[in-house]
Amino acid sequence: VETQDLAGRRVVVSAGGTREAIDPVRFIGNRSSGRQGVALARAAAARGADVTLVAANLAQDVTDQVVSGPRACSVVRVESTAELREAVRSAGADADVVVMAAAVADFRPAVTPDAKIKKVPGQGPAPIELVENPDILAELAHERLRPDQVVVGFAAETGDASGSVLEHGRAKARRKGADLIAVNAVGSGRGFGTDSNEVTLLDGAGDVVGQASGSKREVADALWDAVAKLLP
Ligand code: C5P
Repeated sequence: VETQDLAGRRVVVSAGGTREAIDPVRFIGNRSSGRQGVALARAAAARGADVTLVAANLAQDVTDQVVSGPRACSVVRVESTAELREAVRSAGADADVVVMAAAVADFRPAVTPDAKIKKVPGQGPAPIELVENPDILAELAHERLRPDQVVVGFAAETGDASGSVLEHGRAKARRKGADLIAVNAVGSGRGFGTDSNEVTLLDGAGDVVGQASGSKREVADALWDAVAKLLP
């Protein structure tokens, strides 16, 4: 039997990946499957929480996992970053915990024409001008919709010449101001689209407060263990 340490708690989890319209038929998107976010929602529900899943472009069979059964989550479907932001902020207004597990587009096309962009014979492609999206996690962390709300983010990193996965994660933790950041290494078959994950949990100062690896459900439970310790 699952511990009921989240009983009576309201939690919001965003999952999936946002899509930014280029025109009515095309978009800029990403490869997030939403599986880690869905695992987080299910784990929280199993531990007694009242869960709202903000689902960005999740496949139907993925959403089906959370909408049925005695531990059903509320699901709000969204497409763009603007929609995700509205849904998270509205559901988050009275939430004890908000977990941003969605892969949010950093940029969106500056304009979205009402008609499909046509290929003009003899002319090259028209450039797409991008503008920056709001950082929803940083906003939530810095504003605090509720003073005692626990705000959690993810950081999918690759190591590069300017630093290791963990160094990038640390810098992100400090910049975002969230209470917890789950850092995972992506690339070469890890993280995206797979059924397992490996994360290091950092606090807002960038210090390591935990480690988890295994199925996305196991990682989800380790994250809720860390969140439970922060709840008043
Ligand atoms: O900066 P980066 O995209 O790597 O940060 C990842 C974390 O920030 C995730 O928790 C993601 O949900 C969140 N994020 C956000 N709004 C953005 C970009 C990322 O909330 N515009």
